[in-house]
Amino acid sequence: MDENQLNILFSNGILVDSSIKEIKIADLDGLISTLKNKNINFLDVDTFHELYDGEVVSDSGIEIIKNYGGEISESKPPNWVNYFNDRFNRLKNILMSKDRNGLMSLSNIKNLPQSSDVKTIVIVSSVSISPVKKYTIMDIEDNTGSYKAIITNSNQEILEDQVILLSGRKYNDAIFVKDITFPDIQMKEKVKQDIDDSFVLFLSDIHIGSKLFVDGAFERFIKWINGELPEYSSIAKLVKFIVFNGDLIDGIGVYPDQEKELEIKDLKGQYDRLYEFLDRIPKNIKLILSQGNHDATHIAEPQPKLDKNFAESLYRLKNAVFLSNPYQVNLIVGKSKTSLLSYHGFSITYYANKIPKYSKMDAEDIENIMKIHLKSRHIAPSHGSVQLMPLPRDYLVIDETPDIYATGHIHKTLASIYKGTVLINSSCWQYQTSYQKKYGMVPDVAKIPVVNLRDKSFQILDFLGDKVQIYKKGLKEA
Ligand SMILES: [Fe+2]
Ligand SMILES: [Fe+2]
Repeated sequence: MDENQLNILFSNGILVDSSIKEIKIADLDGLISTLKNKNINFLDVDTFHELYDGEVVSDSGIEIIKNYGGEISESKPPNWVNYFNDRFNRLKNILMSKDRNGLMSLSNIKNLPQSSDVKTIVIVSSVSISPVKKYTIMDIEDNTGSYKAIITNSNQEILEDQVILLSGRKYNDAIFVKDITFPDIQMKEKVKQDIDDSFVLFLSDIHIGSKLFVDGAFERFIKWINGELPEYSSIAKLVKFIVFNGDLIDGIGVYPDQEKELEIKDLKGQYDRLYEFLDRIPKNIKLILSQGNHDATHIAEPQPKLDKNFAESLYRLKNAVFLSNPYQVNLIVGKSKTSLLSYHGFSITYYANKIPKYSKMDAEDIENIMKIHLKSRHIAPSHGSVQLMPLPRDYLVIDETPDIYATGHIHKTLASIYKGTVLINSSCWQYQTSYQKKYGMVPDVAKIPVVNLRDKSFQILDFLGDKVQIYKKGLKEA
């Protein structure tokens, strides 16, 4: 709202809360007549959103890059063939944009004489280590056939179903690999955007409905975002977006005996409770909500946006946007765009179980698994790492390098950077459950990673104690 609009409101006897100054109003006359009709002479953001359905021109917004619309596909062989072809072709294109000289298909390689130099893009159908010499042996495939590849001197981590570019020499009906190229993300330069400090907060795994929900800490967060707490209030004032990355509610029947730990025993009631909190967040902040394995939807990925039948109350929030899991968007502030890839994180658990050195699931392990996703340009590269829906298009492929890659699900905190892309895992709002105790999982509770969209600098705020504090564990500075 500019000076002129403020003056017009004042001259019409309407006082304005400072929160409204952030909002630009297209139809000021319409708003004034509504306020006069209702005898309202004080305008704050909440009143504004209750009354005004006209066009709001805000300096922040969201541009959708990728969002699954909810189409369904049955688990039939032809659907799986189409699905894997789509994945292979898109990842192949990414690899070809790095190096397209001298590429050969596997059927061509089979016809070449022994000792020929070869280069090819393949999907890895199986990986094993030879017991004697510790070579890595791979079964590989492309659209023309299958073959074997052997790596004798690499400590590179190769995972099943990754799409990679191999170069080497044909020998004894196998490729002896000299070099491996992963699709990997592009290096993002550190750029200072020409905007004021503008923050995005990352929350996930709120698990509302659970008796173990950290009510007090979440209440502290709501007070803080409303400017009612002195600590780091300069950040609270400048928050433009809050990302809620799945497991918004605890759900029902997700793990054995969950019922005993539930405070609210119906899904709608759980979402209603969340609505009561989120409705208290200033309406000039955009809320981006997506779901996880505890929410009211199918578990196969991609997952569609929240189901209105259960989360009907949340859909009343005019500042909320509902997206699929995963999704990719541009966060827009002024003329700046920051690309965010958001994924609840189910496949992280699979890789922590599969790769012994990442089994502790501490911040470093999560970081390394998120790097596997980015290197593979796929958030669940190995078949079986998540339940999948074989859609004609694979939504789990990372087509565009994001500026921020955010996950949750692990109930741990991470803020780090890889090749210029900020990596976030956003803790949880639930104390240790009986299920977690059984498996020795100790959650990190009530931490909020914060990214400044001006320069992609990041920090973590801790809402668990009496005062909001900076949290250093899980923070890896660039
Ligand atoms: Fe969770
Ligand atoms: Fe989860």
